Amino acid sequence: LKVTMTFVTLNNGAKMPIFGLGTWRSAPGEVTEAVKAAILAGYRHIDGAHVYENENEVGDGVNAMINQGVVKREDLFIVSKLWCTYHEKHLVRGACEKTLSDLKLDYVDLYLMHFPMGTKPGKELFPFDKDGQVIPDNSNFLETWEAMEELVDAGLVKAIGVSNFNRDQIERILNKPGLKYKPANNQIECHPYLTQEKLINYCQSKGITVTAYSPLGSPTRPWAQANEPSLLEDPKIKAIADKHCKTTAQVLIRFHMQRNVVVIPKSVNPKRIKENFEPLLPYYCRASKHKDYPLNAEY
Ligand code: A2P
Repeated sequence: LKVTMTFVTLNNGAKMPIFGLGTWRSAPGEVTEAVKAAILAGYRHIDGAHVYENENEVGDGVNAMINQGVVKREDLFIVSKLWCTYHEKHLVRGACEKTLSDLKLDYVDLYLMHFPMGTKPGKELFPFDKDGQVIPDNSNFLETWEAMEELVDAGLVKAIGVSNFNRDQIERILNKPGLKYKPANNQIECHPYLTQEKLINYCQSKGITVTAYSPLGSPTRPWAQANEPSLLEDPKIKAIADKHCKTTAQVLIRFHMQRNVVVIPKSVNPKRIKENFEPLLPYYCRASKHKDYPLNAEY
């Protein structure tokens, strides 16, 4: 399998594959096989988080591939995220250690602050009061960031970054007195209905790489409303896909790679896992009749 993997370079010098497997809403019973199928298909970057409640099963898939000699740990790029209930400084290290023990790894390549706000510590991942309002904690994300910097020094994580941060919030980190490590990455929702042009330009101008989540529009997101437009069925995207002999998902994925934005489509379906990777296979085309890209050629 010849793959031209493109990377973005992080501000710690590490190379992050521009394409990875998303695991939000991947059921624990399905995600181990999905991770294995992805790594066998050529994926080298897996995106996860404590709050997805499947890191143990993600770790099973990753470790199976390492133990079977399919891939070496150093060739993988594993991302996880600090959940909001662990923002208080004294909780950060334990949260990271829990993720590492679930993943059965000694380090992650990138650890992100999942949201710029902490919530009440405890067993509940989503602590709400009786009026349905989220209960905050006593943290402020600048202090949380300091605790994340300590994870780098302790060798538990290679790089740290943020997720769901806007420009003002990033600036507050960059301007923090005594800042030791700048954020390496900001992971945000991004797709052709939410292009994030300004935020991406800002982050990239500061040396902060961007990862696009929900690149396919997350069709099963819990807050989806009837009658909302669907990216995967969008006639304009479909027309582009037909013209270039690709699927709509492949066009939606390629959209980010051409902007130097990392993209992490989620799938637990082996066929779609392969389909989503195909934009990285330079000569692939779905229709064998396409003159430039014969389907049965050897790549
Ligand atoms: P499945 O896991 O059954 O493949 P996003 O990455 O934007 O969150 O989108 C993920 C959703 O899109 C999942 O519901 C996933 O379902 C579905 N999906 C993933 N890849 C494709 C594809 N190539 N074509 C259609 N749907 C896809």
